[in-house]
Amino acid sequence: MPNEMILTETRGRVGLITLNRPQALNALNNQLARELMDALEAFDKDDHIGAMVLTGSEKAFAAGADIKEMANKSVQQMMDGDSIAVFSRILTIRKPVIAAVSGYALGGGCEVAMSCDMIIASESARFGQPEITIGVIPGAGGTQRLTRAVGKALAMEMILNNRTLSAQEALQFGLVNRVVPIERFLDEALNLAEEIASRAPLAIRAAKKMINQAYERMLTDAIHAERQEFYNLFSTEDQKEGMQAFIEKRKPEWKGK
Ligand code: CAA
Repeated sequence: MPNEMILTETRGRVGLITLNRPQALNALNNQLARELMDALEAFDKDDHIGAMVLTGSEKAFAAGADIKEMANKSVQQMMDGDSIAVFSRILTIRKPVIAAVSGYALGGGCEVAMSCDMIIASESARFGQPEITIGVIPGAGGTQRLTRAVGKALAMEMILNNRTLSAQEALQFGLVNRVVPIERFLDEALNLAEEIASRAPLAIRAAKKMINQAYERMLTDAIHAERQEFYNLFSTEDQKEGMQAFIEKRKPEWKGK
């Protein structure tokens, strides 16, 4: 079936995937997430491709998981559907994946960017985990990867109090590799990917695998626990209220229930 929510193309030895759901700021619904992971896996199997770049639009890399799709779900439906599990498929990709991020990288969008191997940010990029504002927590690795990337103090502030980071702050705190003007962020990522793709492919894969052993391996149990906590919150009135308030564009009223 042709993709409806992403665009794919090859540039030399680089596979480029563009999230293309502009009307929802690339909110990651099930279909978009599935198309994205399928495309990454297809490039990973393609011998002509040495590295991948994942990008969105100038305005939004991705504004998170699709709130409208999950607002009314119960814990059981969240657990049965296990829609967040799809995000971990990115970790099985053997070739390097570079995120080229401009505009919003929020919630699941920030989590997808952090699951890539490197991040090139445009000057307008904004990183955040705003789930607390809709009565839940990050569910796709945010509590773990953000804490590893920026340290406990800042991760606490970002996840507990919706502090977002500008591109320059993200650079300062080690979340991204480089910040470049908006006109050049995609080219910068493509050039970096092309350079990496020209190197010894098997050594590149081994290097990526070993860096992830240092970084990702210890996260596995915690990521599962985080996903369970995320699903559990779907039994609360605050999750229903938080997500409904977002959809109705009003302030939520928290009950602590
Ligand atoms: N899910 C569903 N729809 C979304 C969305 C999301 N995450 N983010 C944006 N949209 C939709 C909006 O509802 C709106 O649709 P309509 O035109 O039909 O009203 C459209 O995209 C444009 O958005 P806004 O009008 O809100 O644009 P804005 O420029 O005023 O604000 C924004 C931009 C600050 C990013 C705001 O859209 C926003 O706060 N989005 C939600 C961010 C968020 O909470 N993300 C976390 C989601 S939960 C998650 O990701 C869980 C996880 O860990 C896996």
